[in-house]
Amino acid sequence: MKLHQVRILHRQPLFLGALLGCFAGWAVGCSNGAPGGEGTGGTGSGGAAMGGSASTPPATGGSATGGISTTGGGGTLQGSGGVVTGGSATMPPATGGATGGSSTGGNTAGGAFQAAGGTNSGGVASSGGSVTGGKATGGSATGGTGVGGRPTGGVATGGITAGGTGGVVSTGGASGGSTATGGSTATGPLAATPPMGWNSWNKFAGSITDTLVRGIADAMVSSGMQAAGYQYINIDDMWQASSRDSNGNIQPSSSKFPNGMKALADYVHGKGLKLGLYSDRGTKTCAGLPGSYSYETKDAQSYASWGVDYLKYDNCSPASGSNIQTDYTNMANALKAAGRPILFSICAWWFYDWETSIGQMWRTGTDIKDAWDTDSHSFIPLLNNNGGWSGRYSNASYGSPGLSQHAGPGHWNDPDMLEVGNGGMTDTEYQSHFSLWAIMAAPLIAGNDVRSMTAATKNILTNADVIAVDQDALGIQGKPISTSTTLEVWSKKLSGSQTYAVVLFNRTTASASIAVTWSSLGITSASATVRDLWTHTDLGPTATQYAATVPSHGVVMLKVVGQ
Ligand code: GLA
Repeated sequence: MKLHQVRILHRQPLFLGALLGCFAGWAVGCSNGAPGGEGTGGTGSGGAAMGGSASTPPATGGSATGGISTTGGGGTLQGSGGVVTGGSATMPPATGGATGGSSTGGNTAGGAFQAAGGTNSGGVASSGGSVTGGKATGGSATGGTGVGGRPTGGVATGGITAGGTGGVVSTGGASGGSTATGGSTATGPLAATPPMGWNSWNKFAGSITDTLVRGIADAMVSSGMQAAGYQYINIDDMWQASSRDSNGNIQPSSSKFPNGMKALADYVHGKGLKLGLYSDRGTKTCAGLPGSYSYETKDAQSYASWGVDYLKYDNCSPASGSNIQTDYTNMANALKAAGRPILFSICAWWFYDWETSIGQMWRTGTDIKDAWDTDSHSFIPLLNNNGGWSGRYSNASYGSPGLSQHAGPGHWNDPDMLEVGNGGMTDTEYQSHFSLWAIMAAPLIAGNDVRSMTAATKNILTNADVIAVDQDALGIQGKPISTSTTLEVWSKKLSGSQTYAVVLFNRTTASASIAVTWSSLGITSASATVRDLWTHTDLGPTATQYAATVPSHGVVMLKVVGQ
């Protein structure tokens, strides 16, 4: 039995607080970057580009071969043969919006193009790497936009183009290969789009080792997960030794992590990925290992010194007389003071209004388990909890208009990690799980063994059309809009005029036809184009509505654009 299955009952959260929207205090997190960057550049062949970095050691982008041409204004860029080789840096992306240039390996074709929050979504990743805030094609990139700016010089592909709101447009890779250097330091928001990554708990619980995590990191790259946008490798509970060292420092289990966390973080960063760890606001974690209560500053400093990029912070074993808000705030402040951008993932099993001002994501309910609807931990209750509004579902007790109002760039509702591929549900059900998480703009944290995925699992987890819905720059959390609560229509406004994602979701045990009307989405024009996001087919302009047969427990997921 998994640990989390035996210690759930104590979590009966009390929710009384008023629901608040975006606070002025985190205006950064509430801002949207304008999509598309500006790029200028020439055509060239050859050329050396030195990727920029910020507060961390500069990364050398390496030399670029091949030409690249860009056109500015629209943020389009076409490159051919623009392969950057080499480049290395052991440090992760620099503070805030350093991109590309600080990844080991530079911005290699097929490699990662890392953004540490300074770039905003609005970009597109295609072949050549995963991108936040830009567009990568074969290793070339147009600058995305970022709140807080985006350093120039961070991306190199036969030249450099980087730019964006608040950033600088640079010209690089001009004919003959000019050299662009630079990389301004810009501090941008963490989690401009819902965080994507992997977490050890759902599949491995306490069976985690340095070897496993390295193997997962390798597989994240070789399987295409990284290219699809997954960034964080998160080690959950049970990485710690059973006690702190004689100076009170938290330390990893020496048998599981004999090389220490810094070496592991370096390895993960070397893959262009980021490392996450887990702790708890109480005296002990949920598995009974040392918690961070009263050690917040020390622990945050340890994480920063190791190169940790993400902290999941749990809610077990509160100290006597402690206050939940104070405990979480203490760690949020300690992370901020530690001198490294560390995404703060609050795991308090319920929504509290104060969470939105101190974390980038927060669990909205109890632990997920790999089952469709057997008890309160199953997929369906967690979906209802996170996705319901106005009392639409009996257990949606957050009040009108529900949780969706709290989602947006820099701050996300977290219905818990994905179970896709863990074996307890059918592939049709996993497709629904993934689609509904995406339309809710939920963090996409895979929880399966990515070293041995079936083709079906991989196909689900790396579906670029569906991921694009989750990662849409507007950051709107979609909601059910149908009156039926068994044959449902969900809608999410996407960037672009009259553009929506739609999920037709069949909760029943028999296949059924479900229709979405354009007027129910808010589309005013008579016809709309429809793209099926699972079959990847464009269905052409359709008048008034679209109807499809949806399998039992399945979805049809669409992108609809009013014409
Ligand atoms: C809690 C969390 C889970 C997991 C376990 C680890 O139950 O909600 O996601 O982190 O603790 O012990």
